[in-house]
Amino acid sequence: MLTAYDHTLASLVDRAGVDIILVGDSLANVILGLESTVEVDLQTMLRHARAVRRAVSRAMVVGDMPFVAYQVNPREAVTNARRFVEEAGCEAVKVEWFDGCPDVTRDMVSAGIPVMGHVGLTPQRARELGGLRLQGKDADTALAVIQQAEALQEAGCFSVVLECVPAVVARIITSRLRVPTIGIGAGPDCDGQVLVLHDLLGLTAGRRPKFVKAYARLAEAVVAAIREFGEDVRQQKFPAAAQTYQMSSEERARLKQMVHWEE
Ligand code: KIV
Repeated sequence: MLTAYDHTLASLVDRAGVDIILVGDSLANVILGLESTVEVDLQTMLRHARAVRRAVSRAMVVGDMPFVAYQVNPREAVTNARRFVEEAGCEAVKVEWFDGCPDVTRDMVSAGIPVMGHVGLTPQRARELGGLRLQGKDADTALAVIQQAEALQEAGCFSVVLECVPAVVARIITSRLRVPTIGIGAGPDCDGQVLVLHDLLGLTAGRRPKFVKAYARLAEAVVAAIREFGEDVRQQKFPAAAQTYQMSSEERARLKQMVHWEE
């Protein structure tokens, strides 16, 4: 699974053969430059989900429920989740763990909406978790994460994301669940893996978490291409003949006469 937030990159992710595209609320940070994913609203998530949906013909598209759409007022969760399916064409939604998560999940599943769960580091609750950091470090907190994953499976989740937990915790959860686990910073023993696309491509600035592997250095490539464009414009190498439209010589001559213009 990989994230995508826009039409162009979603079509490339789809073309590359990824099974699931998550329109993650991490777009708050990656696209909108916001501090916290809590700040992103439902309209924004739906707009990006629609853009991704239009690009994807093969992968499953999962819409990430923003905090405001299910944690602030859980009674609105089903109505809001339905919008991801009916308006944006998503096949499923994702929810992050909070105390009411099993109930909200059950309601959505009963309404026919497939739900992916998310436990461990759940960025929408980062403040309560002591920041964006490893969860389940000691046996007691690890047991809590295991129980959360089990509760989400029992509530009907078809898959559970495990974020930023020790590998052994992910291994235990994966062996206990019937549904697939998808890890991010959870070691190799999950059924699948997910990364934020911009991290994988080396597009994000600043320090990356330990669990990220950049498979390309696109930030450097983008800056180099833009610098080259600037140089070409200053040196009048761009646009060249290949990028320029011409007029037929007859029409050009007629126009020159009309506007009394000498070359
Ligand atoms: O929003 C997101 O990108 C996510 C993934 C990290 C799983 O939730």
